[in-house]
Amino acid sequence: MKVLIIDDEKSIRLSLRVALGKLGVKIFAVASGEEGIEIFRREKPDISIIDVNLPGINGIEVLKEIRKKDKNCIVIMITYISEVRLAVEAMKLGANDYFTKPFNMEEMKESIEDHLKYIKKSQELSDQGEENKTEIIGKSKSIQNVKEIAKKVGNMLYDTFILIQGESGTGKEIIAKAIHFNGIRRNKPYIALNCAAIPKNLQESELFGYEKGAFSDAKQQKKGLIEESNGGTLFLDEIGDMDIMLQAKLLRVLQEKKFRRIGGIKEIAFQANVIAATNKSLLKEIENGNFREDLYYRLNVVPIYTTPLRERREDIELLINYFISQYNKSLNKSVKGITKEALEICENYEWRGNVRELKNFVERVMIFQEDEWIDVENLPQNIISYESTKDSNAFIGSNLESVEMEMIHKTLQKNNWNISKTARDLGISRVTLRRKIEKYSIHK
Ligand SMILES: Nc1ncnc2c1ncn2[C@@H]1O[C@H](COP(=O)(O)OP(=O)(O)OP(=O)(O)O)[C@@H](O)[C@H]1O
Ligand SMILES: [Mg+2]
Repeated sequence: MKVLIIDDEKSIRLSLRVALGKLGVKIFAVASGEEGIEIFRREKPDISIIDVNLPGINGIEVLKEIRKKDKNCIVIMITYISEVRLAVEAMKLGANDYFTKPFNMEEMKESIEDHLKYIKKSQELSDQGEENKTEIIGKSKSIQNVKEIAKKVGNMLYDTFILIQGESGTGKEIIAKAIHFNGIRRNKPYIALNCAAIPKNLQESELFGYEKGAFSDAKQQKKGLIEESNGGTLFLDEIGDMDIMLQAKLLRVLQEKKFRRIGGIKEIAFQANVIAATNKSLLKEIENGNFREDLYYRLNVVPIYTTPLRERREDIELLINYFISQYNKSLNKSVKGITKEALEICENYEWRGNVRELKNFVERVMIFQEDEWIDVENLPQNIISYESTKDSNAFIGSNLESVEMEMIHKTLQKNNWNISKTARDLGISRVTLRRKIEKYSIHK
């Protein structure tokens, strides 16, 4: 990070250099506005400290020039106490702060430190926003519907409550991310708590944070996730696993829009989009006394249901191709796609683990894939044999003769009614086959 100092008093330049040098920033210090503007153009400093009284063009003019070039960089003005009027003018022109001479060097340093922290945080958030741009793949009606809702709530200015329900691996987390990172909150914090991953007794301090001394391990004040998410999105994943006592406390925060850290007295305002997700049936959890009904209704302002993959098979092709292109990049391969036959098998598979299982499947195939096209022979055995086990399951409960009849019929069809081949396939003689065809009166 870079700091530009424009002041004609050498002693001020020097002491600022010494004080700010400790912050690990690159410092440029000049004595005139002209030089300052030149350096600003060349170096694009994150923070500029400008004396109002400069020989040549004055600090106010320099500020105007800087603001023409960059609306976001931080500008701090220095004036004499007798020139407060100028300081006010500077603030109107877009300065971020001002100090009056003689100023306390320590205070100046602290202020710069705060600004640096802020700049760093907002840079991180905007990087995070770019990296996390989220694509929800699918053309099925249910995915289109989900995408539309995600877009709407993501771009809505006021905060709301969203509850995403659906089987494991159907894309609940990716939807939460899409709402945040593809919407207007993308440069604000996105904070996730996975309730299933955190022991129940630690969930409260994770969420609420604590004051120093609140309990014996609280050596220092710590902000909780509620506080961290302020202004952005709080994602409560696996909400069905949240401690029941904590559910009551959470409900209060969501209703009153304020909270206290554990051991704290001060009430802190809270404002964020709240997204909760679960693969449990919350209604059943309510019945069993594991989930609070009032919290359920509080969260369920915008309900989103994700559909199992086996009920939207038209998305399978798009998803496979999408994952192939992703793994082409990360595995440095150039697989072109999947053949029609192999795709058909995939489309008929049950995908109990939904998109997560499909993604893992593509990854596994891609690791071993050497040919340009993924074909039936590249598919793992469990997916290929699923077809036949599915068929044999269908036979369970039917009588043996009808099974035999259907099998003969199917094999004949497959072999174009060639008796010799069909007999061979079924492992019986041609005479036996003929007799059975007659017995069951099988015909084309
Ligand atoms: N429509 C989709 N488009 C692209 N990728 C998807 C889609 N749906 C799911 N995925 C991917 O599948 C994987 C599983 O999705 P995700 O983690 O969002 O599921 P989940 O519903 O949260 O599952 P769980 O209930 O087990 O936590 C992730 O890698 C995700 O990126
Ligand atoms: Mg999840």
